[in-house]
Amino acid sequence: MAQIHKLSARLANQIAAGEVVERPASVVKELLENALDAGGRKISIHAESGGIKRIQIRDDGEGMEKDDLPLSLSRHATSKIESLDDLEAVATLGFRGEALASISSVSRLVLTSKTQNASQGWQVETEGREMEAKLSPAAHNRGTTVDVRDLFFNTPARRKFLRTEKTEFNHLEEVMKRQALSRFEVSFELTHNQKIVHHLRAAPTLRDKEQRVAALCGKPFMENTVQIDVEATGLKLWGWVALPTFSRSQADLQYFYVNGRVIKDRLVTHAVKQAYRDVLYHGRHPAFVLYLELDPALVDVNVHPTKHEVRFRDGRMVHDFIFRSLHKALADLRPEDVVNAQETSSTISSSALPFSSLPPNLQAMQGVGDGVVMSPSYGPQASMSLKAPPSPVEVRDTLAQYKSLHPDPTLVPAQARSLNNELLSGGVQNTQGEGAEEYPLGFAVAQLHGIYILAQNTSGMVVIDMHAAHERISYERMKTAFYGSGIQAQPLLVPMVLSVSQKEAGIAEECGEELLKFGLVLERSGPENITVRQVPTILQNVDVDLLVRDLLSDMIAHGYSDQLEAKANELMSTMACHGSVRANRVLTIPEMNALLRDMEATERSGQCNHGRPTWTALSMTELDKLFLRGR
Ligand SMILES: Nc1ncnc2c1ncn2[C@@H]1O[C@H](COP(=O)(O)OP(=O)(O)OP(=O)(O)O)[C@@H](O)[C@H]1O
Ligand SMILES: [Mg+2]
Repeated sequence: MAQIHKLSARLANQIAAGEVVERPASVVKELLENALDAGGRKISIHAESGGIKRIQIRDDGEGMEKDDLPLSLSRHATSKIESLDDLEAVATLGFRGEALASISSVSRLVLTSKTQNASQGWQVETEGREMEAKLSPAAHNRGTTVDVRDLFFNTPARRKFLRTEKTEFNHLEEVMKRQALSRFEVSFELTHNQKIVHHLRAAPTLRDKEQRVAALCGKPFMENTVQIDVEATGLKLWGWVALPTFSRSQADLQYFYVNGRVIKDRLVTHAVKQAYRDVLYHGRHPAFVLYLELDPALVDVNVHPTKHEVRFRDGRMVHDFIFRSLHKALADLRPEDVVNAQETSSTISSSALPFSSLPPNLQAMQGVGDGVVMSPSYGPQASMSLKAPPSPVEVRDTLAQYKSLHPDPTLVPAQARSLNNELLSGGVQNTQGEGAEEYPLGFAVAQLHGIYILAQNTSGMVVIDMHAAHERISYERMKTAFYGSGIQAQPLLVPMVLSVSQKEAGIAEECGEELLKFGLVLERSGPENITVRQVPTILQNVDVDLLVRDLLSDMIAHGYSDQLEAKANELMSTMACHGSVRANRVLTIPEMNALLRDMEATERSGQCNHGRPTWTALSMTELDKLFLRGR
């Protein structure tokens, strides 16, 4: 072995920089955090060549004193905390005193700053390994500008890992997006190679905020969201969650902030996923922008160098709060909310292209802006092309095809035949006109191909997938009966002994009472044994061994498990599916109307049990646009 020697400060910084500075986006993240911590209200970011050549960030915050400038570039120099106690309740985004030291060790950096009271600004310059920072006077308004050039010029190994300028810029933009979504009071500007990419003014009102979210996450997202604002026991959750029909193939539109800090946390992800469980199409991901606010002392942010993970003092309570708030918001959705959302959104988003104004839930299904089209076997909307308005030739061809068709081939007049009595029980007569506004899904006009109900409401037309809708109604009814009447349970004739870990046995013992609510009786029968004595009747035929093991591992990981509920719901969902009206069943008009009224009164009726939409609407304005008819 060679002799031991101390690394030079600069080399140590460069090594440490590996943790903080991975690519231009990480530089932007750190510098943006600093600008925000300094109270900047107006922040501009200029990037060149994906940020590899240059990143300049300017803020109008507090600025730094002359003597602090060189100090800020050395490691473990911070103004943000003084003791470990401060770390307990850290309210700033930074606190390690590492970022500037790291960045300056792998780039050519110029830092210029002026405080409110200083008579003039000052500037320090460093270049990679060269340790001495040059200090000189410089013109600057109150605030700070950090100019970072030639990232990794002195660390070729790192430079090799950079991707194309475009990719690096996309990462960088994403970082800015995340911050812009959390600090509505701050204005942001982002330019790339001298072109303005984002210009976001401060957004004090709810409407301004929604505009910012639309600018950053896309209009279709904003048009398909429910606003959340819930407060309980010192926790506050607000923001926007997308309707289940606006789901994504990737988990790429998920922003969650804890006290203004963007995080990716397993507990949070689990809680959100669980809230969507019953309404999301298999394999799809929900989209959301959510803010959790709580006493900083109840959350530990110093878990990971990138600060993306947090640890909650009471994880279980936080999980529960997030889950319940979202679950309720999604369950409370009714057709009228969606109809109303569509009406307001179509007035905001008027576009020259007639096809661009399809109702948002239809756009969402089409995956517009998402690049994903859902299975063409589902529904008529999936087979419509949204790519461009029809050319004149196409229109002529279509007209010719129409002419060759039978006068009225698509509308099958509904005939009287009996259906499930339950459908009739809510029977409402087909009375168009008075009181029609109270029925967002309108009144049935006809049944199409034995699959869809065509209805007319005050604003236009609605098409309903009758099987999907009925399936949801039956499912929700079964759940209400199942959970409402106390859960039926059955003692096992031969109790089942499972060998588990000590931890699992412990948790089974601890949560006994809670499990009993679901009709499950587990007893600890040894240090590493539990005995299953009773299971809910609905689950008597499932693999109890597997179910209990999944449940315990969930409890250990999340302090909470939804396995029992999930399994019971899955079974009810299957039963509901089999018991629901099948395609090609002819419904009478009163039967169809009864189904529509049931939908309006049912939780989560916008999606079937598998998360597919149950209905879609076109307003008269949208229909007029489709036919290029001016009003
Ligand atoms: N834009 C800015 N305006 C005013 N002061 C700044 C700015 N950027 C940095 N500073 C000062 O420089 C110090 C060092 O910044 P640096 O980013 O290296 O560390 P930090 O923000 O304290 O912690 P972290 O490493 O977690 O980011 C900060 O504590 C702050 O006092
Ligand atoms: Mg910092």
